[in-house]
Amino acid sequence: MRIALLAGDGIGPEITAEAVKILKVVVGSDIEFDEGLIGGAAWKVTGHPLPEETLNLCRKSDAILFGAVGDPECDNLERALRPEQAILGLRKALDLFANLRPAKLFPELEAESPLRTDIASGTDLVIVRELTGDVYFGTPRGQRKDDQGRREGFDTMRYNEDEVKRIARIGFETARARSGHLCSIDKSNVLETSQLWRTVVLEIAAEYPDVDLSHMYVDNAAMQLVRAPDQFDVIVTGNLFGDILSDLASACVGSIGLLPSASLNSEGKGLYEPIHGSAPDIAGQGKANPLATILSGAMMLRYTLKREEDAVRIEKAVATALAKGARTQDLGGKLSTSEMGNAVLAAL
Ligand code: IPM
Ligand code: MG
Repeated sequence: MRIALLAGDGIGPEITAEAVKILKVVVGSDIEFDEGLIGGAAWKVTGHPLPEETLNLCRKSDAILFGAVGDPECDNLERALRPEQAILGLRKALDLFANLRPAKLFPELEAESPLRTDIASGTDLVIVRELTGDVYFGTPRGQRKDDQGRREGFDTMRYNEDEVKRIARIGFETARARSGHLCSIDKSNVLETSQLWRTVVLEIAAEYPDVDLSHMYVDNAAMQLVRAPDQFDVIVTGNLFGDILSDLASACVGSIGLLPSASLNSEGKGLYEPIHGSAPDIAGQGKANPLATILSGAMMLRYTLKREEDAVRIEKAVATALAKGARTQDLGGKLSTSEMGNAVLAAL
């Protein structure tokens, strides 16, 4: 198994190093990592956040393990050269349309959730986020002067029916493999895009009579996620709403430092990354929580490399480490990034 390792910016190198450490122990010599430049780190060396060489490395690898991108030194670059464009470009180039973002509250961490324990308790959901369409990629977009000479910015929210169909099917399949409940989230009371979304999701529902489908507007969903997160099991939603709701869901389970993700194409090729960003304010200090990246490594074993048992071993080791009290600073503890990695190793 050859894995493209794209550490990226900020805390990216520290957190991916811990995931690599764990994966090497679990899988042994069957797994090899090839490093590639991405984000601000790539721009500094090559002048581009997603160099052709990195894209080629990703194409020929079995899977991609990704840290984070984003660097304040790049904040004033034109949009095409900003680090964020690297991850967006990679998602688009490899057609990684299906983003799975599980948010499960470890019982040991109930006290870390900013929600009251009786509300947070039992949170165990998956957000299936569409990742290659919507206002993220819609054209036309840009900044210009209006007819009164004022500056205006504009983006286009757009989905075609095929894009909705394929992510809806992933939502239904994910729900079928869990409790059989799927909640589709949109803003169809206001947006044309969302009206099409809802119509198409309802059409696809006919293929899944065993799955119980509900719909919710995104504003209500945000409220429901903090009111009673345990009402959700599988959520399917578009790119922008999924981005926002997954950060929200991460807070319900204690820390954004815990949420892994898988971004898959139709062949099951995947990019695996924590949902958090590059956290430049704590970069290089050993303060970052590596668990989201370690758990992303487990998802890689499950979805692309088909090693379910190894995936479960890693997930159990993380739960054991937390149960024994291992805590990084985001969880109110004192462990450094590598000490947390070691706590997981010890549990393994
Ligand atoms: C995420 C991130 C990205 C996104 C950024 C870094 C482009 O917030 O993966 O959730 O908006 O998709
Ligand atoms: Mg996000």
